[in-house]
Amino acid sequence: MTYDFSDDEDSNPSGETTIRELIERRLSRRGVLAGLAGMALAGKAAQAQAGPSTFTFKEVPHSNDATHHVPDDYEVQVLIRWGDPVLPGGAPHDPSKQSASAQALQFGYNNDFLGIHPLPPGSTSNDRFLLVVNHEYTNTNLMFAGIGEGREARLRVDREQAAIEMAAHGGAVLEIAREGRQWKVVEGSRYARRIDANTSMRIGGPASGHAKMKTSADPTGAAVFGMFGNCAGGETPWGTWLTCEENVSFYFGGEAAKHPEPVLAARYGLGRTAYAWSRYADRFDLAKEPNEPHRFGWVVEIDPYDPAWQPAKRTALGRFAHEGAHHAVAKDGRVVCYMGDDSRGEYVYKFVTSKPWNPTDRAANRDLLDEGTLHVARFDEGGKMIWMPLVHGQGPLTAANGFADQGDVVIAARRAADLLKATPMDRPEDVEPNKVNGRVYVALTNNGSRKPEEVNPANPRARNDHGHILEITPGDGDHGSTEGTWDILLAAGRPGVDAGTSYNPAISAEGWLTCPDNVTFDSKGRLWIATDSGEVAGTADGLYACDLDGPGRALTRQFFVAPIGAEVCGPTLTPDDRTLFLAIQHPGEGKGSSYETPTTRWPDFKDGTPPRPSVIVITRKDGGVIGS
Ligand code: FEO
Ligand code: CA
Ligand code: CA
Ligand code: CA
Repeated sequence: MTYDFSDDEDSNPSGETTIRELIERRLSRRGVLAGLAGMALAGKAAQAQAGPSTFTFKEVPHSNDATHHVPDDYEVQVLIRWGDPVLPGGAPHDPSKQSASAQALQFGYNNDFLGIHPLPPGSTSNDRFLLVVNHEYTNTNLMFAGIGEGREARLRVDREQAAIEMAAHGGAVLEIAREGRQWKVVEGSRYARRIDANTSMRIGGPASGHAKMKTSADPTGAAVFGMFGNCAGGETPWGTWLTCEENVSFYFGGEAAKHPEPVLAARYGLGRTAYAWSRYADRFDLAKEPNEPHRFGWVVEIDPYDPAWQPAKRTALGRFAHEGAHHAVAKDGRVVCYMGDDSRGEYVYKFVTSKPWNPTDRAANRDLLDEGTLHVARFDEGGKMIWMPLVHGQGPLTAANGFADQGDVVIAARRAADLLKATPMDRPEDVEPNKVNGRVYVALTNNGSRKPEEVNPANPRARNDHGHILEITPGDGDHGSTEGTWDILLAAGRPGVDAGTSYNPAISAEGWLTCPDNVTFDSKGRLWIATDSGEVAGTADGLYACDLDGPGRALTRQFFVAPIGAEVCGPTLTPDDRTLFLAIQHPGEGKGSSYETPTTRWPDFKDGTPPRPSVIVITRKDGGVIGS
């Protein structure tokens, strides 16, 4: 998410923005305007030299208008939009007749993570999948008429509108298929599913049944209703979906200082209420149910192939503002999940299962993620790094510091990582292993509040408004290793305008990016980067591609531009690289935009219809490989 709340919060105490910083920022913007004219000329020269890239698509220019843009020889199909029916009996989208019962059967709001699971299961299909989708949050001001603009709109909703919001969060499972060049959602699929803020789930792992997980509705501490704030995710080797709860603190009402555990509450950002849910449901009221927030901020495992299997919160993977959870397999067969805590100054984690996964017996992997070791990263000088285990009883993680058991460690994973002196990062988003080159890529989206005295080797820019991407090489080429080396692949921003940018010198005027968020790789192992917050550089968000090896390394090129206000999420390619799925989140978000007068009505462009977050499909008109 971008403009009006959420990721851009920090709970790792690092001080507030000072007046002086605000003045400096304003001055540097003026410098930006002066620099842009010169850059346009330099860029023209650079474009002619963009030869080293292995990508052959024609770059799309930076812009910021009501619609999306792709190269001329590509086409865009809208696969599904907020409010389209998903389940039997689902009503067609009608923004003037919304209800919670209708929304529960329809596609949710703000699609983020996308994952594709082949049909039939285990096949190498390129044209039939289960598509899993996260619905991260709601832009209430763009959903409902007469609610006004901005984040305050969320606090004005009535009971039914709050219930609609709850039903618009969570996730969806869709069966999708290609017929000729046309992709569509298969109607009446037995796999079709909506998961929302009230779906029944179980709690697995070391926090299951813990005293801090018990509420008046759930004295077992092992059952919970729903998930929300689900940003990115991943999948397991056995084909389940991992969906990650990120900015969950905004859904709870009340004061952190009055919480029975005020230090823990503050460390997890409670008290910055952005939704009205606590007015209508006691479980979101901190004064009434202080343990309810401990039951959110987890990685949730869902089996898209089995609608009857109850989703499980995998607490062994720790509690924080989870971006995603992408896996690799260690040399000994254990599964390694890489994860980022997306807030300013938070950490990069990985979880390693205790046991290897079983490729021949899917059921044997059912609760594999409940046992293992959570680690947090420390990035050192000289390109070295270590993964430090967060294990109760080891080092400072003892009762004397408030950790009576492993449940305490995972519930307060941020505090445990603080004590181990993990490296504070510039908002870790996707942390994703590359199956082709064996390295791991960490998208650090930005950190406008890092002060000069707070820089560290892996986060070297003070006031990092544009982010950077780290590249980790696991020790011995083994994802199970607790050592590794690291390098900075690129430092984002406008070359020649923003301080400290770093790309391949052949970058064109259209190739620079800002605020990397979700990443993916094509079958050749080349990197695709989706961005979130282009407006900090006066442009719309986009999708960029670059080589990771050879003369085109870090030579990013712009492939797609989103409509105004939208973030690009969930980039996913089919195994043959001929179909690209993107989640276009929060089109029309931003100051001055409302239901009545949105900055765009993408993708319908129909009077009276607000913008609709949608999943799109991009193909080449000749059916060729995307990006080539
Ligand atoms: Fe929801 Fe970290 O972006
Ligand atoms: Ca983001
Ligand atoms: Ca994200
Ligand atoms: Ca990704």
